[in-house]
Amino acid sequence: MVLHVLAFIVLLFSHCVNAQAPEEPTLLQNLTIDFTPPNELANLLFPTDVILAETPIAIRTVLVFTIQGYEVIAACDSKALGFLGKRNAIPPHLCAPLPAAKISAFLLNRLYRSQFPLEGRNLEAFLIRQGLDPTSDSTDPTTEIGIANAMAMDLVAYLETDGWNSLGDLSRDHFRQQYSDYTGFKPQNHAELDVSRLRRPLRWQPLKQEADRRGRFTSQVHVAPHIGRAKPLVLSREEFLSRKSESPYASADRKKTIGAKDKRTMRRLLREVLKLNRDLTKEQIAQAHWWDNKFLSLGSFIAFYQGVYGFSLVDFIVIALGEVMAQHDSVMLAWKEKLRHDLVRPPTMLRRLFEGKKIRAFKSLDEGVGLVRAEEWEPIVPIQPHSEYPSASALICQATMDHLHAALTNFIKVNGTIAAYETDIFPFGRSPLTENVKVKYETLQAAALNCGKSRLYAGVHFSPSVDAGFELGKGIGAVAQKHAQDLWEGRIPDNCERCSDA
Ligand SMILES: *[C@@H]1O[C@H](CO)[C@@H](O)[C@H](O)[C@H]1NC(C)=O
Ligand SMILES: *[C@@H]1O[C@H](CO)[C@@H](O)[C@H](O)[C@H]1NC(C)=O
Repeated sequence: MVLHVLAFIVLLFSHCVNAQAPEEPTLLQNLTIDFTPPNELANLLFPTDVILAETPIAIRTVLVFTIQGYEVIAACDSKALGFLGKRNAIPPHLCAPLPAAKISAFLLNRLYRSQFPLEGRNLEAFLIRQGLDPTSDSTDPTTEIGIANAMAMDLVAYLETDGWNSLGDLSRDHFRQQYSDYTGFKPQNHAELDVSRLRRPLRWQPLKQEADRRGRFTSQVHVAPHIGRAKPLVLSREEFLSRKSESPYASADRKKTIGAKDKRTMRRLLREVLKLNRDLTKEQIAQAHWWDNKFLSLGSFIAFYQGVYGFSLVDFIVIALGEVMAQHDSVMLAWKEKLRHDLVRPPTMLRRLFEGKKIRAFKSLDEGVGLVRAEEWEPIVPIQPHSEYPSASALICQATMDHLHAALTNFIKVNGTIAAYETDIFPFGRSPLTENVKVKYETLQAAALNCGKSRLYAGVHFSPSVDAGFELGKGIGAVAQKHAQDLWEGRIPDNCERCSDA
């Protein structure tokens, strides 16, 4: 009897599940990227490897993805110009949701196959599983694939020659390595060199780091040292080159020793970093990890404000284009200056100046603050593989928040004060936290400030770097916002280098 009842319940339950089971997703749903929770397309385009990519490459991924979204909405609008400042037009009946989604998917496939071939291959296989043929070379303007192929041609040609070395063809003919250096950059100090014997002590020394926490270690190689030579998107070349920051040290190039004044500066800066690091709160630890990943942190702001102000998907894409262009020029600028100054990171200097001594430092959440040997100290987030000055995070966050402020004010026309930003930071990656941490920024400027400062209390930067980053970033956001709005409203933006050869 009991068994019968059980069987009945199971039957009833499975019946209910069947009745409530969602319909098989439509092709349109499959082709629409969704991050809440991530659908198959989201996982294909942004797998963990991509989410954890170094900041310049993360920005470039978002750029490529956003160009695709923008290009299709611009070509479905009656006056908007495309990313290259050219007017494309898709016939209105192909701007309906499903054909437009197909054009987007085909275009994205072309761009990814060129720029990110690993993900591109997976995307292509996915589209074939959806019953589509993304491999056709047709440029027939009456079909989705034809339109996408025609639109992709100029975009791919641009992305393959913009100086990022996305194909690796600028450094090798064979066995090409994407985004590899073609400028011959070599660090002044070898990673294996003892800190007391550095060739130029104030210059960057690649750090030795745990690679897999299973016994494999690596020495850093400066990521994409060449991108300061690439083509800016919204800044004129003169403006880009003239934005510079002064070196914080007088003897940065000196061989073997550090000048007396710089030694004093260094001791002061190290004490400042260690003091902030000792006073760390859980909120700061959460934020340091969160800001370290620009996808998770910066990537969430537009969606948050879309929730607050209810703007359209089209407006979202125009703002996203402006934002990623601001980030693109910011990261290039940070890299141009990083390579020009090529300065040392805090752990190297700490080891050199406090060799053999114990310092009071933050050890871990469980152990709190205590004495550690200077040689053993590590920042709370792993230091990224590039030189120290200026802070790219401060620069990128400043430009991003300025951009968003300009977009909400000039484009969305928000009335009155912009709402405070709030989020729950969940534990992820190497964050030691086990619960969500709520953060709130009253203003976008406060968010930018927190982003920059988090690099300081995390222990990966010195304070002059953060200040220089904020300073270098000022004004880029407003230029990028105007640039994107100009394109969208059918005007060739000022200083659009890539627009002139259209
Ligand atoms: C959508 O994707 C799912 C999973 O890949 C697949 O089973 C389904 O057939 C797709 N829907 C259409 C209409 O192609
Ligand atoms: C600002 O106020 C005007 C007039 O009340 C309204 O039409 C507009 O939608 C408001 N803007 C936003 C972003 O809420």
